[in-house]
Amino acid sequence: MAQECEDITSLAKRASALFFQRFEYEGKVVVCSPGRVNLIGDHVDYNGGYVLPMAIPMATVCVGSLNELSMCRIETDSTIQGIDNPKYVEFNIPSEATLLEPGSPKWANYVKGIVAGFHERVSKGFDCVIVSSIPVGAGLSSSAAIEVASYTLLEELFTSPSSSSKEKALACQKAEHMFAGCPCGIMDQFVCTNAVSGCALLLDCKAMESQNVPLNDPNVCILIINSGIKHELSGSEYPIRRAQCEKAAIALGAAYLRDVSRQTLEENKKQLPEEVYRRALHVVNETENTLKFVEFLKAKNYAEAGQCMLRSHESLSDLYNVSCVELDAIVEIASKTAGIYGARMTGGGFGGCVVALAETEKALSAMESIRSHCELRNIFPISYICKPCEGARRLN
Ligand code: GLA
Repeated sequence: MAQECEDITSLAKRASALFFQRFEYEGKVVVCSPGRVNLIGDHVDYNGGYVLPMAIPMATVCVGSLNELSMCRIETDSTIQGIDNPKYVEFNIPSEATLLEPGSPKWANYVKGIVAGFHERVSKGFDCVIVSSIPVGAGLSSSAAIEVASYTLLEELFTSPSSSSKEKALACQKAEHMFAGCPCGIMDQFVCTNAVSGCALLLDCKAMESQNVPLNDPNVCILIINSGIKHELSGSEYPIRRAQCEKAAIALGAAYLRDVSRQTLEENKKQLPEEVYRRALHVVNETENTLKFVEFLKAKNYAEAGQCMLRSHESLSDLYNVSCVELDAIVEIASKTAGIYGARMTGGGFGGCVVALAETEKALSAMESIRSHCELRNIFPISYICKPCEGARRLN
């Protein structure tokens, strides 16, 4: 069935109530960051490639105020990276003598990483509460949303000097690298920061330049189908893929794999180990599929756009090996369902979600049909209908 996600107003109320309960005064600043779904262009951001994510209605909200202590005091509830306890942490504001380091609980590392990066600007202690409606481990950027929401809170609490949105995305990515141990690309943090309502965001990850691609035709909508299989990107597979791509780029004499043409790759195929060649071929395919998808979307040629999604999935599954049985099954079922133009796994993979482009009129019946066919294969997905939302911002 279609799930409704908790709206931002309700999240903000919940966060403010928790703030009052914990700190016994009203929190002053309320900010949010959305999660994201990537329409096409996966495992190419760290290859300097093109990605096309959009912000989704699921979000993370932070409520915060400066305190009179030199401590950062942070509380969450079970909706955030919920599995590890405790739900409350406190640490000294960073200084030369007390540099911040990652530790336990894991959820707090995202915030610590942001505070560490903000460093000299964090001149006072602050209190903060974080809540979220983004499912954890679903490939919808729950971690980037905590980073970007925390950064947005610090921008509001410590007003000057303000950073550019590019610096902000890079700082959040650095927090993920240094404090969460995942060598991610820039896509998630960039779109959570910069998304515009009604548009997907085409990001050239090499130039770090973006363009808004309108996706507001009432006749189409985006379905997110959560397989329920949790993924974990700080494990070894994601870094291995990254390393293989770097190896291919070096062997092919390119700074980024995205600059390697199909012809160059084929001419030099024998120089590369078979697996490394397949990874590189995915990057070539994905670049082509993403740019074509954007053109088809602009031309409202949804049937062809859907084909690009299916080709992208095939490449991720067969060449890049980041899909799984459940995601492959959902894509196969969705691609045969009336009202679905195309579908593919989205994000890092190894579980998480499928994204589909659907005819608005048939979206609900398509979701129901996908659900019942999935159940026959012992897969119990939860689906959402989405439109592109706005990026991180202050709410009050
Ligand atoms: C994760 C990473 C992103 C990107 C995707 C795959 O979401 O955080 O940087 O590499 O996987 O496209």
